Amino acid sequence: MVSRGLEGVVANSTRLSDVLGDKGQLIYCGYDINELVGKVSYKEVVYLLWHRKLPNRKELDAFLHELRSQRELPGPVIDFLKSAPPDAGAMDVMRTAISMLGLYDSDNGKEATPEINRRRATSITAKIGVIAAYFHRARNGKSLPPVRDDLTEAEHFLYLMCGEPQSKEASDTLDVAFILHADHGMNASTFSARVTISTLSDFYSAITAAIGTLKGPLHGGANEGVIHMLEEIGSEENVDAYVEKQLAEKKKIMGIGHRVYKTLDPRAPHLRAMAVKLSEKLGEPKWIRMSERIAELMKEKKNLNANVDFYSATVYYSLGIPTDLFTPIFAIARCSGWCAQVLEQLEDNRLYRPLSEYVGEPVGKKVVPIDERP
Ligand SMILES: CC(C)(COP(=O)(O)OP(=O)(O)OC[C@H]1O[C@@H](n2cnc3c(N)ncnc32)[C@H](O)[C@@H]1OP(=O)(O)O)[C@@H](O)C(=O)NCCC(=O)NCCS
Repeated sequence: MVSRGLEGVVANSTRLSDVLGDKGQLIYCGYDINELVGKVSYKEVVYLLWHRKLPNRKELDAFLHELRSQRELPGPVIDFLKSAPPDAGAMDVMRTAISMLGLYDSDNGKEATPEINRRRATSITAKIGVIAAYFHRARNGKSLPPVRDDLTEAEHFLYLMCGEPQSKEASDTLDVAFILHADHGMNASTFSARVTISTLSDFYSAITAAIGTLKGPLHGGANEGVIHMLEEIGSEENVDAYVEKQLAEKKKIMGIGHRVYKTLDPRAPHLRAMAVKLSEKLGEPKWIRMSERIAELMKEKKNLNANVDFYSATVYYSLGIPTDLFTPIFAIARCSGWCAQVLEQLEDNRLYRPLSEYVGEPVGKKVVPIDERP
């Protein structure tokens, strides 16, 4: 029997994250995300996913030293970011730049040992935010600030994007968003990364494949779609008619619904709370009121809940992040999960090679010579 979209298929075992769709729970290495948010920072979550334990202070210091000392991009990658068409998609540029990093890896030509792959994971995770921020500045004709090793991933991204460090509130908010996006079971981009590395291809190819997969509007691209939708709706009084029309035309409402969560996406309430706080502060409560009404209508009409992308869009918008960097931000955070999953895949690798049900014409057709074909 075919399971369309591999729904319900368990493709591998993992110790990293568990998505409990009926309970609306997301677990990282034994910790419910509700336990982690507010108690640990994103860097500790990266360590947790890569080592399956939270670090003590000494372990964290050593880890941060390693991670932050790898932020500098190779010159040719910087040249590429400066020369990429300013109107190129930010995810396309990120995908290409990560792929390019593979060309300048100092261990190229050596057998990819677990140590080399771990170093690659660190290097990519350290650089992915720099890539997104540098491209954004370059396309706007702005200078590229030097990388720093004294800032967290969230602080560093905002510093590079804006050219100067941003408020603690902004970086703390982004740090929580990073935690919530870090890993998520066998989601489509993680699956892509695992499939790619399972052929014993290289680490960079796996992450490049994951970025390409995340980009789609049914996956990470939905957060950008949410803002476009809110802009299209324009004001609160148009919400009901918009939802009605979309549903009548069998079109999707971005940021709503989930393949696994059949109840609340546990990441959504955290993002909602941050979105409410930020939009009040910015004096733009309209966005959040429109979002609330959409969520209410979708629950009422289709029994569907808001997912991670629904409120993260308003959070990023309120932080002054340009819409086309929303999905790259998702990628920056998810990169830690992709790397953890690729490393785990390699610990006990087996090639992914499912089957397909053939529904074409029955065998037995004879070849007609080319000049006699209709
Ligand atoms: C996430 C998503 C791809 C999951 O899809 P799926 O498991 O394949 O579920 P389906 O697309 O088959 O949807 C099942 C039913 O719910 C409806 N539905 C699901 N999500 C919907 C949405 N966002 N808006 C309107 N209807 C939706 C479908 O139309 C379908 O209805 P039907 O049974 O009357 O035909 C889907 O909910 C979606 O496209 N959401 C919008 C994009 C998004 O936010 N993606 C980010 C996910 S984190």
